[in-house]
Amino acid sequence: MLSGKVALVTGASRGIGREVALTLAEYGAKVIVNYNGSKERAEQVVEEITAKGGLAEAVQCSVADFDACGEMIQNMLGKYGHIDILVNNAGITKDNLALKISEADFDEVLDINLKGTFCTIKHMYRAFLKQKSGRIINMASVSGLLGNGGQANYAASKAGVVGLTKSVARELASRGVTVNAVAPGYIITDMTQSMTDAAKEAVLSKIPLKRAGSPKDIAETVAFLASDKASYITGQVISVDGGMYM
Ligand SMILES: NC(=O)c1ccc[n+]([C@@H]2O[C@H](COP(=O)([O-])OP(=O)(O)OC[C@H]3O[C@@H](n4cnc5c(N)ncnc54)[C@H](OP(=O)(O)O)[C@@H]3O)[C@@H](O)[C@H]2O)c1
Repeated sequence: MLSGKVALVTGASRGIGREVALTLAEYGAKVIVNYNGSKERAEQVVEEITAKGGLAEAVQCSVADFDACGEMIQNMLGKYGHIDILVNNAGITKDNLALKISEADFDEVLDINLKGTFCTIKHMYRAFLKQKSGRIINMASVSGLLGNGGQANYAASKAGVVGLTKSVARELASRGVTVNAVAPGYIITDMTQSMTDAAKEAVLSKIPLKRAGSPKDIAETVAFLASDKASYITGQVISVDGGMYM
C-alpha cells in the first residue's frame, strides 16, 4: 500500500508514534523515526522495522526547535530525495487547572504541540509543492474538539492543530497534497498511564464504546489517510475515540 513512499513520523520513539512508524513500515514505507529524548526507544523501533525487512532510521530533533526541524528535513530530503508522508505526532501534556498553569507550562505545550506541527510543515512546504503530491497527518485530540477541564493549554494547542490543518489543506489542495488530522480519544500510552485511577474511570465513563483505544487503532487510521485510498479526503478531522465526540 505504501511501497516506495518515505514517511517522517515525529515523536515515534514511544506510544502512538511508535505504532504509526511500525504500521507504515508494515505497509512498505521507509520510515524516519524522529525522537527527542528517548534515543534507545527510537533505536528499538528502527530495529523492529529492519528485523521485519523494512527500512528505517532514527533522527533526533525537538519539533519545537524551528532551525533543527529545517536541518533534519533538509538532511532527509537530501538522503532520500523525497518525503511523501509527514505525520506530526509529537506531543506532551502539562495538565492543571487554568488557574494553576504556569506561563512556562503553557508555552512548552504550545511550542511542542502546535508550533512543532507548524515547524515541520513549513520546512516541508516547498518540497510538497514541487512533488505535487503528499500527505500531512497531524495528531489532534478529542480535548481540542470538546475542551477539557485541567487541560486548557493542551486543548488550546490541539484546537490550534485543527485550524492549522484546515488552513494548510486549503493552501495545498491544488497541488495534490492532502492535509488531515486524527483526533484520538483515550489511548493507552505513557501519556495516559500517568493519570490517576479516578481520572481514568471518569474518562472511561464518557466513552460510548466503554473501553480505551490502542495505539494500533490510531496507526491504522493514519495509514489509511497516508494511502491512495484516501486521495479524496482533505481538511478533515477523523475522531478515533470510541464515540466520545459525535
Ligand atoms: N494517548 C492519548 O490518549 C492521546 C489522546 C489524544 C491525542 N494524543 C496525541 O497523540 C500524540 C502521541 O501521544 P502518546 O500518547 O503516544 O504520547 P507519549 O506516549 O507520551 O509519546 C510522546 C512522543 O512524543 C515525543 N516528543 C515529545 N516532545 C517532543 C519534541 N519536542 N520533539 C520531538 N518529539 C517529542 C516523545 O519523544 P521522546 O520520548 O523521544 O522525547 C514521544 O515519542 C500526541 O500528540 C498526543 O497529544 C494522545
